[in-house]
Amino acid sequence: MKYKTQKIALVYFIGALALFTSQVLFGTVAGYIYVDPNFLSETLPFNIVRMIHTNSLVVWLLLGFFGATYFLIPEESEREIYSPTLAYVQFAIFVAAAAAAVVGYMFRVHEGREFLEQPLWVKLAIVVAALIFLFNVTMTVLQGRKTAITNVLLLGLWGIAIFFLFALYNPSNLSVDKMYWWYVVHIWVEGVWELVMASILAFLMLKLTGVDREVIEKWLYVIVGLALMSGLLGTGHHYYWIGTPSYWQPLGSIFSTLEVLPFFAMVLFAFSMVWKGGRNHPNKAALLWSLGTAVLAFFGAGVWGFMHTLSNINYYTHGTQITAAHGHLAFFGAYVSLNLAIITYAMPYLLRRDPYNQVLNMASFWLMSGGMAFMTFTLTFAGVVQTHLQRVRGESYMDVQDQLGLFYLMRFGAGVVVVIGALLFIYAVLVPRQREVIEAAPTATGIAE
Ligand code: HEM
Ligand code: HEM
Ligand SMILES: [Fe+2]
Repeated sequence: MKYKTQKIALVYFIGALALFTSQVLFGTVAGYIYVDPNFLSETLPFNIVRMIHTNSLVVWLLLGFFGATYFLIPEESEREIYSPTLAYVQFAIFVAAAAAAVVGYMFRVHEGREFLEQPLWVKLAIVVAALIFLFNVTMTVLQGRKTAITNVLLLGLWGIAIFFLFALYNPSNLSVDKMYWWYVVHIWVEGVWELVMASILAFLMLKLTGVDREVIEKWLYVIVGLALMSGLLGTGHHYYWIGTPSYWQPLGSIFSTLEVLPFFAMVLFAFSMVWKGGRNHPNKAALLWSLGTAVLAFFGAGVWGFMHTLSNINYYTHGTQITAAHGHLAFFGAYVSLNLAIITYAMPYLLRRDPYNQVLNMASFWLMSGGMAFMTFTLTFAGVVQTHLQRVRGESYMDVQDQLGLFYLMRFGAGVVVVIGALLFIYAVLVPRQREVIEAAPTATGIAE
């Protein structure tokens, strides 16, 4: 670690991992309620459990992005972070807002509107934290070396903040409400977050494979171009049945089909960099997660997204378990795995130790990825059966749900495996201490380039 302010990333990563734990735990509670529907129905009803599950997901992923930014910007910009104090203030505001939101949810205080349930003042606190963050990193980048990675990362981060502003606008007309809701939900994960993903992946490839920066930058620009070209109009795949004009059916179908391309490009990018790269970086676990994120994002977002994105297919599958299958693998592949990749890469530097506790970390990769893949399959089967019985044959929603019990039981089992994998990951990156040789013999470990 060349710059001491990179250390700021540590609190962000620890905060992220703590919320990750709560996210998967609440996920298993939600999964269990599907198996035993009256479980906790008085004290902690399903809608609240689900809210905590999805909100802590989004918040920890953002904490991870912030941490990754504080870790990589100094190295890329060749500057210390403009103000470490502001970075910690930002962390405090963000975490306090998230904690207040969760406590509020427990007491049934929320504003509805899936994913954006936070009370107004929590949303405003998030905006304040985001402004502090953007000011801090933009100042750092402006004063330092500008690279393709910092440019794309900043573009993505500014985009995250700008599109979040639509969360503050909630018109009473339900169609218009949904239109703007997707400006946040869709344009985040299929637009600006993708830029953040591409730039962090590019940084990891640069460090792990040793391929020339020029090559990596060309790929990065291609991926970003593809993402923006497809993702913005691709929003149309959510405008089929909400009361928006019918031209969205062809537009949404065509442009969201193109959304597969940036994810496919990321697979080609990651594998060809590893293929070409001469460097034999000792952190094999970080490489595994980096390749894993490209592949699983391609399947979860690309393949499972395309599966139901054409309007004449979505007509039948809309809002079924197919959607949940896709939502899980896409979020896990693209953003969970990406965060775990950068955390795996950065932790040895932040904690000043060798990355040699990798076997456990790699085991956690296979447990979590295997669990999520199995969950995706069970939900996909559930979704196909559901679509057929409910949408084609016209059976009622609850009658169909009664017939899906076995799938839900298997989903719960897969969820438990994911939780075990997550706990193992946290143990692997934080606990084992083996040799503390980084100061003593930097070159021997390949760690201090
Ligand atoms: C890191 C792993 C996970 C990610 C990224 C994730 C992501 C998500 C997302 C995005 C949703 C909203 C889905 C939608 O709107 O279609 C969701 C809901 C849900 N998740 Fe997870 N989740 C994860 C782990 C788990 C685990 C371990 C379980 C345990 C079984 C679980 C069970 C559920 C349930 C039951 C719902 C509610 C689905 C519904 O409303 O029908 N999740 N999760
Ligand atoms: C990493 C990127 C992605 C993530 C994290 C993601 C996540 C999600 C989630 C959570 C939902 C459920 C939203 C809700 O109704 O509450 C959803 C819906 C949807 N996604 Fe994605 N997605 C991604 C990329 C894609 C791509 C590339 C495609 C198309 C190729 C796609 C196609 C769809 C469609 C068609 C729906 C609507 C499903 C329905 O009608 O019920 N997604 N996505
Ligand atoms: Fe979308």
